[in-house]
Amino acid sequence: MWKNELGGLTFRIGLGDAQQFVKWTPPDSGIDLSAEVVRLRWAAAFTVVPRVVDEEADETGSWIVTAGLPGRMAVDDYWKRDPRTAVRAIGTGLRALHEELPVADCPFDWSAEQRLETVRPRAAAGRINPADWHEDLQHIGTVERALGVLADIPPVDEMVVCHGDACAPNTLIGDDGTCSGHVDLGALGVADRWADLAIATWSTQWNYGPGWEESLLEAYGVVPDPERIMYYRLLWELSD
Ligand SMILES: Nc1ncnc2c1ncn2[C@@H]1O[C@H](COP(=O)(O)OP(=O)(O)O)[C@@H](O)[C@H]1O
Ligand SMILES: [Mg+2]
Repeated sequence: MWKNELGGLTFRIGLGDAQQFVKWTPPDSGIDLSAEVVRLRWAAAFTVVPRVVDEEADETGSWIVTAGLPGRMAVDDYWKRDPRTAVRAIGTGLRALHEELPVADCPFDWSAEQRLETVRPRAAAGRINPADWHEDLQHIGTVERALGVLADIPPVDEMVVCHGDACAPNTLIGDDGTCSGHVDLGALGVADRWADLAIATWSTQWNYGPGWEESLLEAYGVVPDPERIMYYRLLWELSD
């Protein structure tokens, strides 16, 4: 039912309450599904995330099996026809996630400092190409300038446990129009809440079109912070 940019596939198997999801990744994808498994197991005590049923690997790849959560993904055609409800659910759902997951208890780090440690070697290896950057970031121009911007980490607004990939497709929405759970938590970790908000708002552009970013932030309950949004989008673009 889903194919990601790295060749990973997600299959839905079974029906109704017995529904399960198999998330498979090829051997050379660079994705470590066991990192997601430990995060899912940790987060499950505090919020609604998929329950891990099985985890396996062989020479053809690796995969995890999770129990199905209720709801449709926020980019399902059903919700694309009603972006107002979807965007509100993403915003309130992200707020709830940030409130439910306890920072003091969280063993995972997703801070800008830690993420920059993976960006710098990628840059040094010539694996970052400004031509690939989103048009919103094109004005930065060069890898050197981007690294300069990223070195100046904005002071933390509020530390939370971030989702790590808070884009619309990773939010599920129930028939009542509210968030029914989050999936895809392989990068979950402690960071400034704007690390998630920057990506959640950005993803409304490509999933629903222009004009939804402020609605999402309003539903979350925060006023726009263009500097942190730009910073964390740039960090996102230069990360793996
Ligand atoms: N346990 C689950 N319950 C409901 N939907 C799921 C579940 N696991 C995955 N999905 C669906 O499959 C999609 C792909 O899974 P995801 O973990 O996001 O993979 P990827 O890392 O490739 O984006 C999700 O957007 C979601 O719609
Ligand atoms: Mg996903």
